[in-house]
Amino acid sequence: LNNFTLRNGVLHAEDIALPSVAKRFGTPCYVYSRRAIEAAWRVFDDAFAGHDHLICYAVKANSNLAVLNLLARLGSGFDIVSGGELERVLAAGGDPAKVVFSGVAKTEAEMRRALEVGILCFNVESEPELERLAAVAQSLNRRARVSLRINPDVDPDTHPYIATGLSENKFGIDIHAVERVYRRAADLPGIDVTGVDFHIGSQLTRIEPITDALERVLALIDRLQGQGIEISHLDVGGGVAIRYRDETPPSIGTYARQLLARLESRPLRVLLEPGRAIVGNAGVLLTRVEYLKHTAQRHFAIVDAAMNDLLRPALYDAWMAIEAVVPREGDTPTRRYDVVGPVCESADFLARDRELALAAGDLLAVRSAGAYGFVMSSNYNSRPRPAELLADGEVIHLIRERECSDALWAGERLVMLGPER
Ligand code: LLP
Repeated sequence: LNNFTLRNGVLHAEDIALPSVAKRFGTPCYVYSRRAIEAAWRVFDDAFAGHDHLICYAVKANSNLAVLNLLARLGSGFDIVSGGELERVLAAGGDPAKVVFSGVAKTEAEMRRALEVGILCFNVESEPELERLAAVAQSLNRRARVSLRINPDVDPDTHPYIATGLSENKFGIDIHAVERVYRRAADLPGIDVTGVDFHIGSQLTRIEPITDALERVLALIDRLQGQGIEISHLDVGGGVAIRYRDETPPSIGTYARQLLARLESRPLRVLLEPGRAIVGNAGVLLTRVEYLKHTAQRHFAIVDAAMNDLLRPALYDAWMAIEAVVPREGDTPTRRYDVVGPVCESADFLARDRELALAAGDLLAVRSAGAYGFVMSSNYNSRPRPAELLADGEVIHLIRERECSDALWAGERLVMLGPER
């Protein structure tokens, strides 16, 4: 699946040498591999081929239109969490009838738009949200298909910022309280109860928390059936980890077998919401070393990418692999570098304590940057956001221009001020 490989001592994205990309489009920039994204999506789709299913790619992981478009062409559905993500899916040619809408704070306007375009399902996360959705649907004379998102109270064993299925988290409805909410949903005009949904967290390296949650939810489905509430689909969320360093995530085949073993006899359509596992290892952040700085304490490689471009190391202390695009041989000494950016924060690092042989001007690739990379970028320190590129065999497509400085203040105004006060 790895489409970023060294060829003749030069790192390539598919068949494109990364130095040529840096020369043509500048740095920092994100480079994705079409082949890697498509292959990862197909692995999921094939693993569930024996059972009625729909892969609803989690748009938040990488929402570039070209990425969404290539997934839409494969027949993918989409998991969205905002009106903005819905508009992206539509602009990219995605099918609204394959869209599920998650998120704890859906506004009336978002509900209206989603009902108008006819999405597949709302993953409702609270009782007040259910009441609001019923009112909006009625006002439009439509019916909203609904899953309730269950909070199964399992420990997903991941970073606390990306755990979502514990009872202390803001997500979903407590599994012990949800039957009453289902009965309410079944009574509400404007609501069609169709599914049950859970998503317990992200970068899950163990499968047991997911199967635990699944078993609890299947028992719930049985209890609902006993009360005359028929469930036709089960959304098992996303969350399967990728390897950044030495993690050993379950293979997608194992994941699918574990889920399907518990679902076999049931006529339930399975929805999946993978994000990271589709795009994570399909992208790199390409950056150039501006300076090397050696202090009494540390060696710094100061690069042109920063925490505003790639936030994961600063926010989660995430470890992401960094390698030289053209590894040096022989004479350059290896040092333990902190790879840091230009932003005025000590949290502005991409990596710490990495053995690298570097000189100013060298190119580095931060690996596994296809998910939660560009999408989490900002303009902090008035830094234009980087370009995004898609490698497709020997062709490289610019899929988002580097921002120019005007874009930094687009929407801002100089105003006519009266006399000083
Ligand atoms: N479904 C729902 C309802 C979600 O909240 C998420 C991710 C997914 C699916 C996709 O999860 P995945 O398959 O990508 O693990 N920024 C963090 C990750 C935040 C994940 C938020 N929810 C990071 O960089 O690690």
